Amino acid sequence: MGKYEKIIELARRRGFFWPSAEIYGGVRGFIDFGPLGCLLKRNIIEKWRKFFVYPHQDFIVEIETPIIMPAKVFEASGHVEHFTDYIVECLKCGRKFRADHLIEEQTGLSGLEKYSERELTEIIRKYGVKCPECGGELSKVRKFNLLFKTVIGPYGGNIGYARPETAQGMFISFKRVYEVVRRKLPLGIAQVGKVLRNEISPRQGPIRLREFTIMEIELFFDPTNPKCSLIEEVKEDVLRILPAERIVKGLKEPMELTVEEYLERKIISNEWLAYFMTVGQRFIESLGIPREKQLFIEKLPEERAHYAAQTFDQTVHVDRWGWIEVAGHAYRTDYDLKRHMKFSGEDLRAFEPYPKPKVYRRKTIRLNYRRIGPKFRGRIKELEELIKNLSGEEIESLIEKVEKEGKVKVGEFILTKEDFTIIVEEHVESGRRFIPHVSEPSYGVERVLYVTLEYAYTEKEGRIVLKLPPDIAPIKVAVFPLLSREPYVSKAKEIYRMIVSENILCLYDDAGSIGKRYARADEIGIPLAITIDAETFEDNTVTLRDRDTWHQVRVPITQLTNIIKDYISLKITFKDLEKKYLRVK
Ligand code: GLY
Repeated sequence: MGKYEKIIELARRRGFFWPSAEIYGGVRGFIDFGPLGCLLKRNIIEKWRKFFVYPHQDFIVEIETPIIMPAKVFEASGHVEHFTDYIVECLKCGRKFRADHLIEEQTGLSGLEKYSERELTEIIRKYGVKCPECGGELSKVRKFNLLFKTVIGPYGGNIGYARPETAQGMFISFKRVYEVVRRKLPLGIAQVGKVLRNEISPRQGPIRLREFTIMEIELFFDPTNPKCSLIEEVKEDVLRILPAERIVKGLKEPMELTVEEYLERKIISNEWLAYFMTVGQRFIESLGIPREKQLFIEKLPEERAHYAAQTFDQTVHVDRWGWIEVAGHAYRTDYDLKRHMKFSGEDLRAFEPYPKPKVYRRKTIRLNYRRIGPKFRGRIKELEELIKNLSGEEIESLIEKVEKEGKVKVGEFILTKEDFTIIVEEHVESGRRFIPHVSEPSYGVERVLYVTLEYAYTEKEGRIVLKLPPDIAPIKVAVFPLLSREPYVSKAKEIYRMIVSENILCLYDDAGSIGKRYARADEIGIPLAITIDAETFEDNTVTLRDRDTWHQVRVPITQLTNIIKDYISLKITFKDLEKKYLRVK
């Protein structure tokens, strides 16, 4: 059995996760989280907050927006048009497949994103790609939109889509949040939530889901001042990056430079992108995945999402699939806000006040309504809008033109000299308006959870030991009476209640031999186990066992909760305890 199968088996048997709707045969791309999976997922999300949100609370705030949103949002975001994959159907059995994945599997060709439907169909014919299930001929390749569509309300007229990313909720709330934080930039808006993507044929368990959870931040910054104030803190970290310039030359060896060097060489296009990539590397490392098993792979222009000017996939090496993406770090420029400004008609620009307001005199056009009223009936508002938006220079050239030629064109309107008068007005400009640019780190929780399990999974003497970092382990401590009888049981239950009263997740188990109980605790990653034995009744101490080394120390019951708290918050290690307390042989 490969590592993937072993983890899937463990996850199902011990209640981390399993295929959803199992009793009805299941449906690909959906999983249920069981009791342990729920806890682990929650702890991973909380740890993400500890890296990405809490240390930056002076400029990153978390919000929650709906899963279903009106069609207009995704028309504006470009997802209705661009959020597509290539689909191909078997003409014999009717099964549907993602065309690029199928071609890649059967021919070894890669980089297929750059081809059109017609070109992919030609490749299928040329290489004789067939249905992997029944060997049948395949249809022409088509585009398939991955948005889940629904109707909002009872009359069916109001189309909605399930969000494929939480990001759009942050973009359309930008104006409100910007006001709430008293118009300060940089501003990060964070969100953790469910998203849905109607994947064509997901076949990778928890790695490719149709419903999953995203943790992402949209970091809004002034493009004329793209400096990240925290870059100093990360500039010496080394990142492993496979940049696009290497990929196009067919090179597979990543670069290993400091953040500072990548920025100097312009391999990473902006400091915020570099900052969050580095925080992201530290975050994934804290889950037990060493840096050498992480790699940032730059997306080629044809592989990038429609909104991005530069994207790095943060990947982790796994046993079955090689490098898999756990996060995308994208420079989204002003794409999204610009589109939402256009589609909503709202002004989503940020504002930077000048130290001193600028006062200047400027020529302005005052329309002569008596003349233009009858002339442009019904379109006056349109003309007013055009006039309002003319710059000082445009007004000067308009005056020049009308003086020379007797008439001038503004948009589709032809104005003569008599249609307006020129007045000189004093203008006060208090600041600069601009559309912020955005850098986005976006993590898929289920993928992060899977890679964490894969790196925690070990076997020792034929048993599974899940070496999850203590701070994310679902259950923190197990309590066992050495023998399943009195007075051991009562004392163990008393200690169990003492630990639970401190809000620490704890397991009590008195079934079977002590060896079996340790084994059951090890395979679900409980970092510490307490055993109540005969000595407990003599000197009020218990044994404390380390999951990873199986070493034990004797500690006083009075110290227990403090020790557990320090251990699970990573303030101390088991080695520290071995130095302080008596080691049990
Ligand atoms: N917001 C990141 C993504 O769509 O994958």
